[in-house]
Formats: sequence, C-alpha cells, structure tokens
Amino acid sequence: MTSPVLDEIQAALATVNDPEIRRPITELGMVESVEVDDTGRVAVTVLLTVSGCPLKDTITNDVNTAVGKVAGVSAVDLTLGVMTAEQRSGLQETLRGGQAQREIPFARPGSLTKVYAIASGKGGVGKSSVTVNMAVAMANQGLRVGIVDADIYGHSVPAMLGVGDIRPTQVEDMIMPVPVGVSGAGVLSVISIGMLKPRRDQVVAWRGPMLDRALVQMLSDVYWGDIDALFLDLPPGTGDIAISLGQHLPNAEVLVVTTPQEAAAEVAERAGTMASMMHQRVIGVVENMSFLPCPHCGPEHRLEVFGAGGGARVASTLSTRFGYDVRVLAEIPLDLELRSGGDTGRPIVETAPDSPAAIELTRMATALSGRGRGLVGMQLGLSPAGRL
Ligand SMILES: Nc1ncnc2c1ncn2[C@@H]1O[C@H](COP(=O)(O)OP(=O)(O)O)[C@@H](O)[C@H]1O
Ligand SMILES: [Mg+2]
Ligand SMILES: [Zn+2]
Repeated sequence: MTSPVLDEIQAALATVNDPEIRRPITELGMVESVEVDDTGRVAVTVLLTVSGCPLKDTITNDVNTAVGKVAGVSAVDLTLGVMTAEQRSGLQETLRGGQAQREIPFARPGSLTKVYAIASGKGGVGKSSVTVNMAVAMANQGLRVGIVDADIYGHSVPAMLGVGDIRPTQVEDMIMPVPVGVSGAGVLSVISIGMLKPRRDQVVAWRGPMLDRALVQMLSDVYWGDIDALFLDLPPGTGDIAISLGQHLPNAEVLVVTTPQEAAAEVAERAGTMASMMHQRVIGVVENMSFLPCPHCGPEHRLEVFGAGGGARVASTLSTRFGYDVRVLAEIPLDLELRSGGDTGRPIVETAPDSPAAIELTRMATALSGRGRGLVGMQLGLSPAGRL
C-alpha cells in the first residue's frame, strides 16, 4: 500500500539516525515495516542490531518524534525487533562499503581523517586529560571525532567522558564505538582497549603481538564511519605500541605531553624520538600543569609549582634532532576543575569553558583543526619530514 502519508512517514524515518552508527535507520535496513490505517494510526517495526541495545530508548524517542510530526498521523505504535544473523551480516557489508575485511580506513591513501597520537614519556602528566578535552573541543566545533584509548596501563578515557560503564555493541565481528554526548554540533565516539577485555575485572598483560592485534582491531573492526579526526591515547613510554602504530598508521601525527619538570621533559624527549623513528611527524609539545594561576594576582602571575621550561626544552631538543620546527602548542595551567571533571566524567571544556585551562585546550584544538581537514596529514608520498 502506498499513500502520500506513507511516503511522508518514510521520509520522516529517514531523518532518524541509529545513535551508534550515525546513519539513517532506513539506509541500514532497520525499518522492517510501516503501515498506516484510515484513522492515521501508524504501526512501525524497527529492528535493532542486537537485543538489549543500550540505545533503544533513543531510537524509540526519535522514531516517535519524527513520525508523530507527520501531518495526518494520529498515533504511533512502535514495535522493536532484533535483526537476524543474516540481516546483521548484510548490515556489516553495507558498513564496510564493499571493502575488504580488516582494513584500516585511516591508512588508505587519500584518507581525509586527521590522526593525532597523544604520547608522553611517563604516566600521570595529563595525556588522557588533554586527549579527551581536545576531542570534545573539536566535536563542539562541529567536527566528527573518534577516540581510541590504547593506554594499556590506564584506559581511563571512557570514565573521563562519563561512559565508563558502557560496553560497545557488536554487529557480527564489527564493533560500534560508544557515542558520547557533546554540547556542540559535532559528534564524538570512543573505543577503549579496556572494552576489548572479555571481563572488566580481568587483568590482561598486553604485550607485543597481542597489543598489536588489539590496536588493529580498534582501528579496523570498529565502525568509525567518516570522521574528521581520530585521537589515540597511547600508553606512556616508548614501547610496543609505538612500533605497531608506526607500521599501521604512519600518517599519524604525534603530540608529546610533558610537565615543566626536568625529569618529565627528558622522558618526553625519548617518546618523541621514538615516534620519529617510526616515521611519524611530531607536530608539537603540550606543556601540562604548566603553572598555577596566582589566587591573589590572577593568571598573569604564574606560580611554577612543577618548575619551568620542560615544554620549551622538549620542543627545542626535538627540533634540533629532527631538523624541523617542533613548537610548544599549549601551556595548560593547573586547574582543580580539570581534575574533578576527569573524575566525574565531565570534561572541563564543557563544564567551565571560560576557565584558563579550557580556553588553552580549546585554542589548541582550534589551531589544529583550522589547518584544514585532511590537507596536513594526507599521505602524499613525501618523506615524513617533508609533510607539512
Ligand atoms: N592541568 C591539570 N590541572 C589539574 N589536574 C590535572 C591537570 N592535568 C591532569 N590533571 C590530573 O592529573 C591526573 C593525571 O592525569 P591523566 O590525564 O590521567 O594523565 P595520564 O593520562 O598522562 O596518565 C588526573 O587526576 C587528572 O585529572
Ligand atoms: Mg591516561
Ligand atoms: Zn601573585
């Protein structure tokens, strides 16, 4: 049966995105049937990718709202079903776009996704805090952003974003990244190495080949869709993951996070050098916990709690070593709200966007994304140092 109302209902359904895949449910084969009777009562059956889909309430609301708005519709009866194995394979094929299996989309020549690897010499310097806040800042600017939390020692990124308890949805052997709500126009999703463990409390000694497989899985088995930027929160140090990353994503650009301290600066230099040996370009240094804004005089008076000069020192050492200009991109002050935001899952760029730390993080995100999507890191067959 087709009627003008039915066409309009179809059009309304096409505006509803699956919250994880972020594409219209009509395109994904999720709308099984639509019927409308003489009184304007609509019966819609929507198939979820998996039973117990954590986002079924979102889909329910979105379908009811979209269809309810169509003129002539008096009521909406929504039935939720679950895809069969065959339907899920079909969906997986649609999502892969006919591509060969286990391909890393970001490593394809001509990929427009900017890949930022956040590295540090040691833990506790604020690598994850910088990662989540930059990612949220970019999403708030309207970009589509993904985060891969590859820190085997910490994997704290999901908790910092308030999605620490969520397990990703799996469609056959494809994994949906966990969506994160942001206040701006863009979108953000995250996958963490901690989510790949069969059980949350399991202790896994990630090393060598296993770690490599996990990294490849997070890059190729996860459906990222068409994103503008991908952030990788790397484990601290210069270990196996840097080697894997160099092999799988040579176009990743590295940000080195350090504190002003002498010892931290030294280990950060080693992490930077390692990245370069793996043919990744180090695009800058972030000095975190740079200073404490003086509670009496204001931020012009910087109390140097952790010493001074670490960021500048790493930048100048790496510049000399690589023969290209590595700069300090940001000096992020100590901020209590930044720390508590990490604990409560609400990043400071959302909760206190006018604080000096949030302003500095947002400024850096704007500077990086402002370089133009894809133009900077695109693989042009140049040597890493020649890429700009
Ligand atoms: N600029 C800052 N001001 C205050 N606390 C911070 C700042 N940066 C990080 N922290 C806190 O320091 C701790 C370590 O930060 P985290 O981002 O987890 O570091 P890493 O990922 O390098 O181990 C966290 O409790 C975090 O909230
Ligand atoms: Mg961390
Ligand atoms: Zn002062």
